[in-house]
Amino acid sequence: MAIESIVILTGAGVSAESGIRTFRATDGLWEDHKIEDVATPEAFDRNPRLVHSFYNERRKQLLSAEVRPNPAHHALAKLEKEFPGKVLLITQNIDNLHERAGSNNLIHMHGELLNLRCRESGVIYRVEEETQPEDLCQCCGSSGNLRPDIVWFGELPMSMERIYTELEQCDLFISIGTSGNVYPAAGFVEIANDTGALTVELNLEPSKVKSAFHQGFYGPASEVVTEFVADILKQV
Ligand code: OAD
Repeated sequence: MAIESIVILTGAGVSAESGIRTFRATDGLWEDHKIEDVATPEAFDRNPRLVHSFYNERRKQLLSAEVRPNPAHHALAKLEKEFPGKVLLITQNIDNLHERAGSNNLIHMHGELLNLRCRESGVIYRVEEETQPEDLCQCCGSSGNLRPDIVWFGELPMSMERIYTELEQCDLFISIGTSGNVYPAAGFVEIANDTGALTVELNLEPSKVKSAFHQGFYGPASEVVTEFVADILKQV
């Protein structure tokens, strides 16, 4: 069967070799921070300073000279450019490494670290500086309304309607660098299977939902993704 439409899901593992910590490793981000203190709407209501400071730290790291796209990000951008059919990248990551590598057809389903959102109006602002609870929002003139434009636990991921439509039309679904712990993303493989797509997992080690995939290739993303993309492009 000729492949015409590819949907790719990425998680923290694709950015690990760029120096950004994953969430559930022994040295992962959720080892140091309680999710309920920094990644829920209730945490933001209770202690906005702590939440701003958590994301300020991550933003500063993302903008530092050491953090750059790695070969896996570059391979995925090359796939989008050179594959004759459709390639959609859905990322759970809030970093901007896919776009810096050149990917354009990209959905940030868990939001973006470099965006703030007004809680009143929904207007989005690009931000590279540190943010504080006292910052005045340009649209409503109030302090306290600007929050990271990030999907927190208990909130709905972004662009889900489009994501389900694309999954229902794809011929190949590739999941990269994600542990399969967080839904709905962990369930995308089942939708792609129901669609009749070939489903492939590329990860450092088998994920929690490994058995749902037709194929799995394991190792660092910089290697397995680069090889897998080269194989696809060889066949077109
Ligand atoms: P996890 O930290 O749960 O999983 C990262 C996965 O990447 C693991 O399966 C690792 O084995 C794999 N990995 C690590 N290094 C790798 C490498 N060099 N190459 C390939 N794979 C590697 O991160 P996610 O699955 O992305 O959500 O987590 C999903 C969501 O949980 C995140 O988007 C975040 C988090 O809570 C929110 O904050 C809403």
